[in-house]
Amino acid sequence: MSESMRGLKRSHMCAEVTEKLLGSEVTVMGWVNKRRDIGKLIFIALRDRTGLVQIFVDTEKVSEEIFKKAEEIRGEYVLAVKGTVMARAEDQINPNMETGKIEILASEIRVLSEAEVPPFQVLDKGVNTEMRLKYRYLDLRRPELQKTFILRHKAAQTVRRFLSDNGFLEIETPVMTKSTPEGARDYLVPSRIYPGNFYALPQSPQVFKQLLMVSGFDRYFQIVRCFRDEDLRADRQPEFTQIDIEMSFVDQEDVISVNERLIQALFKETVGYDIKLPIPRITYKEAMERFGVDKPDLRYGMEINNITDIVNGSEFAAFQGAIDSGGSVRGICAKGCAAYSRKQIDALGETAKLFKAKGLMWIAISESGEYKTTLSKFFGDDRLQEICDRFGAKSGDLVLITADADNEIVLTALGNIRTEVAAKQNLYKEGYEFVWVTEFPLLEWSEEDGRFYAKHHPFTSPMDEDIELFKSNPKEMRAKAYDLVINGYEAGGGSIRIYQKEVQEMMFNTLGISSEDAYRRFSHILNAFKYGAPPHGGIAFGLDRLIMLLANEPDIRDVIAFPKVKDASCLLTDAPSTVDAKQLEELGLAVTRLAEKN
Ligand code: AMO
Repeated sequence: MSESMRGLKRSHMCAEVTEKLLGSEVTVMGWVNKRRDIGKLIFIALRDRTGLVQIFVDTEKVSEEIFKKAEEIRGEYVLAVKGTVMARAEDQINPNMETGKIEILASEIRVLSEAEVPPFQVLDKGVNTEMRLKYRYLDLRRPELQKTFILRHKAAQTVRRFLSDNGFLEIETPVMTKSTPEGARDYLVPSRIYPGNFYALPQSPQVFKQLLMVSGFDRYFQIVRCFRDEDLRADRQPEFTQIDIEMSFVDQEDVISVNERLIQALFKETVGYDIKLPIPRITYKEAMERFGVDKPDLRYGMEINNITDIVNGSEFAAFQGAIDSGGSVRGICAKGCAAYSRKQIDALGETAKLFKAKGLMWIAISESGEYKTTLSKFFGDDRLQEICDRFGAKSGDLVLITADADNEIVLTALGNIRTEVAAKQNLYKEGYEFVWVTEFPLLEWSEEDGRFYAKHHPFTSPMDEDIELFKSNPKEMRAKAYDLVINGYEAGGGSIRIYQKEVQEMMFNTLGISSEDAYRRFSHILNAFKYGAPPHGGIAFGLDRLIMLLANEPDIRDVIAFPKVKDASCLLTDAPSTVDAKQLEELGLAVTRLAEKN
């Protein structure tokens, strides 16, 4: 039977009941974490979102009725307990608990709610993810998760305060909007009033925030949900949250400057971490050349080096062929990995192949300084030493090399091997490494479609000095686009936008979008731009990714209260699901293909 709270008022959260309150009477409310009976004594660990406190029930000191009630209490019952704060007996002190020196000697216990035996113990760490997500409300009772959501709350508050103090206005934008081509796949919402017509859920509020600039709002922000129907990864969810920002009358420096101060405030106020400003910057080109990715993890070195000049002129066809076709030979040095087994090296070779490289060569320098290598047929010890010197490789190190006619393949393969070795060797040092990556390519060529796509989006401004390349060499054009990378994660990205009609036309032209087509697809923004568009630019941070970094969680699902799993379904609500025939009828829809869900 559950009892009412009447006459009782919670005086403290569980973890607030410390030795400072010795002798006082308190009332706490929460969930039973565990009950232990020792003869005539009962100990109950009571839990709320602040932590645990021990309740002590002593037959000598309470009525038989209360003792009996205490004996029937089980895990996850919801209790209200009134009692006096007492020092624990010496042998009962728990130094690992905030409330470990005290206990509450119960004078009254009410069972506010009984609980069935839960499918798993809340504090059990061994429960599998599916189970945890199916019963997410139980999972969320875990103190580590509660800590993460308290941190997430703090982060959102800090962002709002900082941006508001810096003149930004929080303005909401629609969630049911128009499907925009380009970008990821949209989630669609069918219209009942116009059967056969659809809204799309926004992939980001990009168009609306630009319209707000045309409206004169000058500095906008929003903590906003975005939706993208793309494959899930450890740092990717189909619905996720952005800190979305846009500013007028600014250039790249202004956007970067205010946003690095925002990130500084965020890290300081949530986890007390000091970021030294300015955050370093590297260009996209440099990031690719040195790290093989546009989101380099700077917590470790292992930079890519070019050895084309050293190996040029050899008999080794794999190298020479690549060089002669305008490609290169490059590598990285995996410190202390000379003892990697054949199997381990082969696994890295597989990664290289995954990224289209034809193979992976290696030189292992034994502890006594001898070379063990796949290159011995073609290069003598002198040349091998020259190669190793380029990497600063010493005894015990492993140099990994690849060659291709396409430099991008060489760099991307090595970049991915670099990340893999770092994970294997756990090269991550404590703390955070921040870097702005700038000067992204404006366009991306699709071999498959035989056309350019905007690397960021079609409203991203080219760099002023590159505008004339629209005519001669669009591939080489750089954008006023920037990403903030933290520990190898793309935490945010943005750009300065095109606001001049002529530049926009050149952009659409290059993308192969006719003027008519452009108006059909983007009429709302192109029309708005006719009536006075200020120069503007902005950025969006992935709030979930920032929380992952702040909370040190490798899985994005652990920082989202009700996340989706890999197949984009929700184990708790069982979404997506089929709907009644009547609903379909109203929407003018017929299902032609139905997937059975597991
Ligand atoms: P972009 O597409 O780079 O830019 O997104 C901005 C940031 O959002 C985060 N992010 C994601 N987080 C979790 N799951 C996802 N599926 C996901 N996709 C993106 C990343 C990323 O850096 N409108 C532009 C911004 C602008 O130009 O102002 C935009 O959306 O951290």
